[in-house]
Amino acid sequence: MSKKLWGGRFSKSTDEMINEFQASISFDKRMYHEDIAGSIAHATMLAKCGIIADADKDSIIAGLKKILTDIEQGNFSFDVALEDIHMNIEKRLTDAIGEAGGRLHTARSRNDQVALDTHMYVRKEVVNIAKLVFDMQTAFVETAEKYSDVIMPGYTHLQRAQPILFSHHMMAYFSMLSRDFSRLKGVYERADIMPLGAGALAGTTFPIDRSFVADQLNFESIYTNSLDAVSDRDYILEFLSAASIMMMHMSRLSEEIIMWCSREFSFIELDDAHCTGSSMMPQKKNPDVSELVRGKTGRVIGHLMAMLTTTKGLPLAYNKDLQEDKEGLFDTIDTVKFSLAVYAQMIRAMKVNKDVMFKAVSDDFSNATDLADYLVKKGLPFRQAHEVSGKAVHYCIEKKIWLKDLSHDEFKELSPLFEADILEAIKPETCVKNRNSFGGTSYTQVENQLQLAKAMLEKQ
Ligand code: ARG
Repeated sequence: MSKKLWGGRFSKSTDEMINEFQASISFDKRMYHEDIAGSIAHATMLAKCGIIADADKDSIIAGLKKILTDIEQGNFSFDVALEDIHMNIEKRLTDAIGEAGGRLHTARSRNDQVALDTHMYVRKEVVNIAKLVFDMQTAFVETAEKYSDVIMPGYTHLQRAQPILFSHHMMAYFSMLSRDFSRLKGVYERADIMPLGAGALAGTTFPIDRSFVADQLNFESIYTNSLDAVSDRDYILEFLSAASIMMMHMSRLSEEIIMWCSREFSFIELDDAHCTGSSMMPQKKNPDVSELVRGKTGRVIGHLMAMLTTTKGLPLAYNKDLQEDKEGLFDTIDTVKFSLAVYAQMIRAMKVNKDVMFKAVSDDFSNATDLADYLVKKGLPFRQAHEVSGKAVHYCIEKKIWLKDLSHDEFKELSPLFEADILEAIKPETCVKNRNSFGGTSYTQVENQLQLAKAMLEKQ
């Protein structure tokens, strides 16, 4: 009978299939670093509080450091029968240093231990992800500056609406990512609370010092309720939610990129290094990265739904259901990191077809609002100006021409308020330049956004 660390009250060994079913080692082994750091802090505290001897603490710490090196060098074989990372490490420690190893788990349960490890892991990865968000934001700023004179149609209902600067469009994504960044900061704050010392659920009979452990592990605060400490998975839910929103943003961008590089739009060209071909159709160059990011967004949102569903019916405190928090969490971390990293590269390398974008605003009616605004500035109420402009568009559609092709007489016929300067007023450049309200698409306003963005990045 294989000896379990909890084997005392059992007279039979665990069924082989159950061993495998309940084990989390295949995925929670990635928290080995956090588990060892947490155990070192715990052992240090136990000795400081006189709960274990200094000599035991020293051999525990030396043993744990050796295990860390062994894992990092690939000299550690993880055992499914030992369930999870916590017991794999503890068993190896006890095998190596004997009785002192058995003292490490004093005043601790795997329930507060796993909570500690996961908090630390989330905290670490949130910082890594925030760095990638920062880089992606920088890529948007660079691209906006590189193509600062490019005009494109802005859309509503996916119909050409009004001319905008391409850089304005890029900076919209910058703004979305700024909110993602601040959501990640919120996740960090909620992960930065130390659960260890909650024991299995009710605290411990030993005179521990939780603040000391929190200080050693750099936690801002400690959980004030032991039941909450071992049951709380809000920080994971918040992370999955922040990640889902961020992926949703990337998915919207993906949808645009996919359209823009279609032959129908031809607004951009992606670098060959970021596309794939077809095994059958020799001409194909497919935007797989965008399609995959759009696809993976569904997976990340799925993890959020799974975790909400898993937790919604759980009584306090720990239930094994909570072990299900990890795979979705880890997969989300990996997916978000990979998506952000490839996207930043792809955005930096993409080429913008300025002429095609410009043709889409000059051979078009997206200046019809400006035609109406012109009349309003000459004194006509907006509703009437809207009507005149609508009639002008209708007339041009019938004649198969654009507003810019109307003759002086035709303009006069539509409204006596039109003067020779109307042609200048409906040029795409003028339409863009005149949208100078705060946050608008004018060159000045976009430049202002860029300045604010750069100042923000410097602070981040
Ligand atoms: N592997 C477990 C998890 O991830 C660790 C905690 C197990 N606690 C217990 N009482 N069985 O949730």
